Parts: sequence; C-alpha cells; structure tokens
Amino acid sequence: MKKVLIDCDPGIDDALALALAAGSQDALDVVGVTTVGGNVDLPLTTANALALREFLDLGDVPVTPGSAGALLRHTVRADHVHGATGLGGVVLPAPERGVSEGHAVDFIVDSLRAAPGEITLVAVGPLTNLALAVRKEPRVVEWARDLVIMGGSYTRGNHNPAAEFNMLADPEAAAIVFEAGWTVKMMGLDVTLSAVVTSSVLDRMWPLGRLADLLVPAAQSYKPVTADDGPAIHDACAVAYVLDPSLFTCVPAVVNVETAGLYTRGMTVTDFEVGDRRANALVATSLDVKRFWDLVMAAYERLAARLG
Ligand code: RIB
Ligand code: CA
Repeated sequence: MKKVLIDCDPGIDDALALALAAGSQDALDVVGVTTVGGNVDLPLTTANALALREFLDLGDVPVTPGSAGALLRHTVRADHVHGATGLGGVVLPAPERGVSEGHAVDFIVDSLRAAPGEITLVAVGPLTNLALAVRKEPRVVEWARDLVIMGGSYTRGNHNPAAEFNMLADPEAAAIVFEAGWTVKMMGLDVTLSAVVTSSVLDRMWPLGRLADLLVPAAQSYKPVTADDGPAIHDACAVAYVLDPSLFTCVPAVVNVETAGLYTRGMTVTDFEVGDRRANALVATSLDVKRFWDLVMAAYERLAARLG
C-alpha cells in the first residue's frame, strides 16, 4: 500500500485523477488532498475537492486549502478549458463536510514529518503549495518518499507554444521545486497528451452507474486534443505512475524552469545530456496507452461497483 498526498486544482482531469486514486484503494492510501488556485480560483478548486471526496467515497481524507495564487506572478486561470465551476458539465451533490483546519503547506510539511520516507507527493496543479513547503521546511525533500507531478513538457506547451499550464501558472514555484534537491518524476504533456478518452474509452465509461455521471460529462466537456479525438486526462497520468511506473519510459534529465523569458516563461527546459551533473528529474518520454487504460478502467470499474 502506497501513501499518497495529492495536491490539485480540480479541474476536470484532476477529478478523473482523484477517481483513479479512489478506485485504487487496494494499492493507494490517500492521506490527504490539498488544493491550490489554478484551473479556477481556490474557493472553487476547494469546493470541487470537497464534493469529489464525498462523491468518490474517499471517506474522511482531509481536504486542506492552500495558496490562492502564484508566488509572484499575476493570476493565470484555465476556466476557458475547465468551465466556470472548474468541472465543466459535471454537477455533483453539494458536499456535507468542510475543509480541515489550517493551511495546505502546513499539512504537507506536518504529514511528511510524521511519516518520513512513506508518503509520495502527487502534484497535479501549479506548484505553489509545494514550493512554500520546501521554503518552510527544506527537509520535506528528504521526508518525501517520492514526488510525481503532472506538468511541463520537453517539446511544446499547451497554454502557449513554450509552457504547460501548471508551470506557467507559477513558474517561480516550479523553479523552486525543481531546484529543491529531490528527483522530480515529471509526467509532461509529451506523454499525457496520449492519455486520450477515445470514443471506445468513452463507451466503456457509460455503463459505470453513478460514476458515469462524473466520467462522461467530464470527458465530454473537456477540450479534445484534436478535432476528431477526445480529451487527454493529463493528471491521471501522475496517479497512474504511482500505481505502475512501468507504464512509462522515463529518462534522467536536468530540468530548469524559465522564469524570465518574455515568451518562454514557464518553459521546462529539459536537458537529457546530464553529463556529470545530478539529474533533478526523471522525465516521462513514453506511455503504454493500452496498459494505461486497462489500469484506469479497472479502477473505475471497482469504484463503480462501490458507488452503485
Ligand atoms: O496542462 C494540464 C494541466 O493543467 C492539468 O493539471 C490540468 O488540470 C491543468 O491544471
Ligand atoms: Ca490539474
């Protein structure tokens, strides 16, 4: 059983990542969910996380809100992609329980301190909370069992040609995280764009009862990768990596995050020619798409059986 702490900005694909975690309780122990402003503002990402916790039967996993905005930069949002609520066309029952006391950064630091070497951090939004945790307590780098992010790209961005959204939303935070001393497992657009909800995948989601009430409208309202294809569930790749790293081919690299470029701010400048430097990242370069969907759909089917 792997302990995971998921920092997210729900977000349609964040929701599908949380569903993957919820359907994988035989392998994952979700010790907490922390939220950050990203796709939409923090009150909405947090409200969505609370609703998802109950809808996905995540039990009493604490939900703790964190940073509303980036460390330095003006706010960048993706409500044009995730919709005004952040969950596209998905409507979930209003949550009955609220957030935990305190701030996400303290929750992250305190959780890692209490269980050194046990918890994998999974970050699928802007990295503001993680950067502040590193600044508050640098030993989190030693205490974390692993750090897996959905973010970046060694080819091209999505919010603009240079930058992927999570990195662009807070480039200074991303730079702090990549320079902190751990080895970031980077699930970038290079692989996540192949995690597409094709029509045949969508056909497998329809029969999943109450869970289909999330999966299908989420997939239908998320921006497709190409005109004749479906959307990519980027964030689920980070959870999938924790569940089965063999789904991915990963290559050591030195990754630097551009923070000054007028046109390249947020770019993850990835150098696979590591030489005698320390690789600060393990960058995913390929994904076994068939095995990915086998794993994801098996988890969704287990969860659907629980939800009815
Ligand atoms: O670029 C994709 C990432 O940006 C995903 O995490 C999505 O939720 C958005 O936050
Ligand atoms: Ca996200």
